[in-house]
Amino acid sequence: MDSLTRFGVAIPSSLLKEFDGMTQRRGLSNRSEAIRQLIRESLAREMWATGTETIFGTVTIMYDHHTKDATEALTSLQHDYGDVIVCTTHVHVDHMHCLECIVVKGEGDVIRKFLDDLRAVRGIKSSDLSVSAAM
Ligand code: NI
Repeated sequence: MDSLTRFGVAIPSSLLKEFDGMTQRRGLSNRSEAIRQLIRESLAREMWATGTETIFGTVTIMYDHHTKDATEALTSLQHDYGDVIVCTTHVHVDHMHCLECIVVKGEGDVIRKFLDDLRAVRGIKSSDLSVSAAM
């Protein structure tokens, strides 16, 4: 395990109070753990933005499977990006809608391109990306 470094941070009292409230509501053990998580999340977002390091993420899409060729287009696209797709879970939401959760692993720029291509498929109603990095 990495050694720990202590550092001081100057912060407005009211902001710290709000932060401690959030830490408590989230059930985190202490302020340090909350700050460590925020830093990791920020770093993962930056890796995603700069596109040069491996990140993990989940892409969640909702789509109308009655839209012509939507299912075929999505399958074809996922085959094209097979190198960065770890697995996909499909849920038949109701008569019209399907939800897919696609776990991705790769460089941010490739995943970003995958997301752009995914959003361009007709029938997609929403898409969300969540990114994480192992650090
Ligand atoms: Ni379905």
